Amino acid sequence: MRALTFSEYGPASVLEVADVVEPHAGPGRIRVAVRASGLTPADCRLRSGRFRDMVPLHLPHVLGMDAAGVVDEVGAGVTGVRPGDEVFGIVDVAELGGANAEYAVLAAWAPKPDALTWEQAGGAAGNVETATRALDRLKVGTGTSLLIEGAAGGVGTVAVQLAAARGATVVGTAGAHNHTFVAGLGATPTTYGPGLSERVAALAPGGVDAVLDCAGSGSLPDLVDLAGSPDRVVTIADMNAGEYGVHHTRSAGPGADPPAVEGLAVAAALAGQGRFTVPVAAAFTLENAAAAHRLSETGHARGKIVLIL
Ligand SMILES: NC(=O)c1ccc[n+]([C@@H]2O[C@H](COP(=O)([O-])OP(=O)(O)OC[C@H]3O[C@@H](n4cnc5c(N)ncnc54)[C@H](OP(=O)(O)O)[C@@H]3O)[C@@H](O)[C@H]2O)c1
Repeated sequence: MRALTFSEYGPASVLEVADVVEPHAGPGRIRVAVRASGLTPADCRLRSGRFRDMVPLHLPHVLGMDAAGVVDEVGAGVTGVRPGDEVFGIVDVAELGGANAEYAVLAAWAPKPDALTWEQAGGAAGNVETATRALDRLKVGTGTSLLIEGAAGGVGTVAVQLAAARGATVVGTAGAHNHTFVAGLGATPTTYGPGLSERVAALAPGGVDAVLDCAGSGSLPDLVDLAGSPDRVVTIADMNAGEYGVHHTRSAGPGADPPAVEGLAVAAALAGQGRFTVPVAAAFTLENAAAAHRLSETGHARGKIVLIL
């Protein structure tokens, strides 16, 4: 099958579409014929070699953590899904990839809602799982006043909508050119960077109860000040979180939190009600994946970058 791979660590130009052996659905897994799959910044770091000491890969490696497609194999013990069903889901996080390909094995999934296009569904699952895990940890619910740092990116756009659907009031940071976009997702937008405390105080006069950092831009000391306590802050992206007593949530590796896969069905139901969507920054073919990686590496994609088959 065709798959997006790399055989040596390096810049986006090392990516190649190669013919690789098809995976099959083992126990508890399903296989899909992929229609679209997601690109996350972690894919770029795996490719560049930045993670090579932490997570050495067996090269060539097939990239991609999430996908949407049509089920064509159902593993032993799996119930409630049949060949021909349309689903979106995530790979086993321990595999560190496998979704940017003609066929992908999923470890968790939900029915694809009609309200999401293949592109939107293909880029949904990983960010929905991540946002749900972080919002759960912060106990975001009705009446929570939440600040999201980095609200215009892949995870941020999803987190804004899921938090608003829980009944939270959300302030989201983004570049000025993204403020109308972020407001459309359900957050009050403001700019990140110096003066954030004053801007947030003006927008949330009662203060914020919780902060989700989706940017990892080094603002944790300010975010802890705003929340009033480090245990009211969760980051998905700041590797120095421990220095500030902040929890860095991840779904794999030492100290991982359990994957919040129940979030997939929640997001699918919200999409069916017109209360959740996946803003797609851009879609690329596997053959143009190097351009997709370069866009991700700008750090300023608006929403999710998707690869289509
Ligand atoms: N721990 C986990 O489980 C987990 C899971 C998924 C992702 N992550 C990590 O979380 C981070 C975000 O992932 P993503 O997929 O959302 O990335 P992304 O789509 O590339 O996010 C880019 C967004 O970050 C915003 N941004 C850039 N600089 C910023 C700053 N200084 N302050 C606030 N926002 C800023 C940009 O907004 P503007 O264009 O408006 O500037 C852009 O919209 C990445 O580091 C990723 O590796 C972790």
